[in-house]
Amino acid sequence: MKVTLSVIKADIGGFVGHSESHPDILARAAEHLAKAKKEGLFIDCRVAKCGDDLQLIMTHQRGEDDEKIHKFAWDVFVDCTELAKSLKLHGAGQDMLADAFSGNVRGMGPGVAEMEFEERGAETVIIFMADKTSAGAWNMPLYKMFADPFNTIGLVIAANMHSGFVFEVHDVKKSRKITFNAPEEIYDLLVFIGAPSRYMVKAVYHRITGEIAASSSTQKLSLIAGRYVGKDDPVCIVRSQGDFPAVGEVLEPFTLPILVEGWMRGSHHGPFMPVAVEDSTPTRFDGPPRVVALGFQLSAGKLVGPRDMFADKSFDPARQQANEVAEYMRRHGPFEPHRLPLEEMEYTTMPEVSKKLEGRFVDLE
Ligand code: F6R
Ligand code: MG
Ligand code: MG
Repeated sequence: MKVTLSVIKADIGGFVGHSESHPDILARAAEHLAKAKKEGLFIDCRVAKCGDDLQLIMTHQRGEDDEKIHKFAWDVFVDCTELAKSLKLHGAGQDMLADAFSGNVRGMGPGVAEMEFEERGAETVIIFMADKTSAGAWNMPLYKMFADPFNTIGLVIAANMHSGFVFEVHDVKKSRKITFNAPEEIYDLLVFIGAPSRYMVKAVYHRITGEIAASSSTQKLSLIAGRYVGKDDPVCIVRSQGDFPAVGEVLEPFTLPILVEGWMRGSHHGPFMPVAVEDSTPTRFDGPPRVVALGFQLSAGKLVGPRDMFADKSFDPARQQANEVAEYMRRHGPFEPHRLPLEEMEYTTMPEVSKKLEGRFVDLE
């Protein structure tokens, strides 16, 4: 049976500041989902959160980019924004960049990761959700899962993965895409995805079967709005087991808290800390950036789960290391490379300060 898994998310207001989601908002979203499920819009659904981001997880048979599914998600965010306003939550409606829905939430503010596939005998999926970081944060983890034999031993010793995977990479500044075959094109691939603020892994496919293996949200809010409106706080769906990396191979990249863009005012590098859902409450310097992982088995489209995958004790050392890296990075204060380079900063006073001081610059001899 063909199933579509859609994860659509938005920051529609934070509690307190940008640190967490308010329980009333989650409850309101759950009511909408329950009603729509009863009316037959989808097979199954879950509400989740990562920090101040509201996540709608839905399974259905309507395919990707379905207008009804996207409109439903948009309407949930609109209604939850009203509730956020009545509670005077911080930044109520911050990701709702368009005035009205027009066919698809892509380009309107909310983030979307979707995939349609033939459900396998046992269909294991992991949904990653991040807060206080940007869409390129999945580049290194996806590379490690699907192209790095030091992470995924299955690439070496499992016959069904030995041929490798195809990476679809989006150039979000020029709005174009390209695909690379791993392993033979990994050096070319890395030239691009090593620059995650511009080139983002959108999807990964199995080389032999062509089956979709991973799909991420690549919406860059600042490019949509033309100004800073909050970080993208991206999501990513990964299929696991069988022809795909095992659960442990999918989670393994997050044992290293890599440096990602985001954190305070979306303008800093900080460690990507894997946490249980209840610990996705970024408070220190509005961070450090968080990632949560919800695991499901699908059964005829029904979501069996979630399991909170990073609640596992074996991620304690990664969290410890993330806190140490956070401390080290913080000591740089307003200096790079903690603060992002000028062209990547989401906030900057540079134009005003430069204008004010223009007359005081004198040419060097
Ligand atoms: C980062 C983030 C926060 C805010 C900061 C200022 O993604 O959301 O660090 O940028 O708290 O928020 P405002 O401008 O809403 O007062
Ligand atoms: Mg926010
Ligand atoms: Mg957020």
